[in-house]
Amino acid sequence: MRFSTLAVTAFALALGSAPALAENFPSRPVTMVVPFSAGGPTDTVARLVAQSMSQTLGQQVIVENVGGAGGTIGAGRVAKADPDGYTILLHHIGQATSATLYRKLAYDPKTDFAPIGLVTDVPMTIVAKKDFPAKDLKELVAYVKANPDKVTLANAGVGAASHLCGMLFMQALQTPLTTVPYKGTGPAMNDLVGGQVDLMCDQTTNTTGQIKGGAVKAYAVTTPTRVASLPDLPTTREAGLPGVEVAVWHGLYAPKGTPDAVVTKLNAALKVALKDATVKQRFAELGTEPVAEARATPKALGDFVGTEIDRWRPLIQAAGVYAD
Ligand code: MLT
Repeated sequence: MRFSTLAVTAFALALGSAPALAENFPSRPVTMVVPFSAGGPTDTVARLVAQSMSQTLGQQVIVENVGGAGGTIGAGRVAKADPDGYTILLHHIGQATSATLYRKLAYDPKTDFAPIGLVTDVPMTIVAKKDFPAKDLKELVAYVKANPDKVTLANAGVGAASHLCGMLFMQALQTPLTTVPYKGTGPAMNDLVGGQVDLMCDQTTNTTGQIKGGAVKAYAVTTPTRVASLPDLPTTREAGLPGVEVAVWHGLYAPKGTPDAVVTKLNAALKVALKDATVKQRFAELGTEPVAEARATPKALGDFVGTEIDRWRPLIQAAGVYAD
């Protein structure tokens, strides 16, 4: 008879041999679920972190893309996984906003996970297809307001960072637009470059290369200060759109009930990754940086998810945006 890992884990925990589980952890590859398509910003962050964690843990950390429903399908997969540390989730601000956006969420973002640590805060950029008829943000706002029925706005589904930024953008302009959802902003970017969709608000970890290559037009960054790797790009505040400010924080999670000693091992490997020269260099090239070590802790992430749920709830409720 084959016992599920969950049964074995529960039995081992009942016998008080969790330390034995942790002592041998990891004895096989770990799956890092990314709740968006491959090739997008979350995937980019995950693969850099996973590569370093593989070296530290001595086992492969394999990225698995589980897209759909703004990241909630992938997150739900991890919430229900065996609490043994072999299935972890790399997710972003959507872990907090989905708590309000989804009235029937299959999991509780605050209680169904064992936080491992924060990873990075990524700026966003307002970008358009390269022949969009606006040379700066002021002209973009004027054109969108004058032609709301002509403009399409890409995102990665309700709960995605691109959805959140798009919501702030439409609220700031008081102009609803036709939104085009994808399973990630990786595929959305392909359509933006191809001209099949007009606008998107997406993370520098996905847009930097396309901006520098001239494949898309960039209008602003959504952070209070300019981004060093995109020095010519004004902030939304500078460009006259102060209401569109958001940085996309990312966290690493295990399922609730994962033994503390296993979480500690995963957290230690995460902290090594955040100091890894390759990770730091690539993050810098893509407009971001690892979080300070004090934030890369289970408690810091757990507390932050709670405060971010509270922070975004009134904004989302005011926008009247929900997904059932
Ligand atoms: C992605 O990785 O595709 C993005 O994070 C999607 C989003 O949140 O906009």
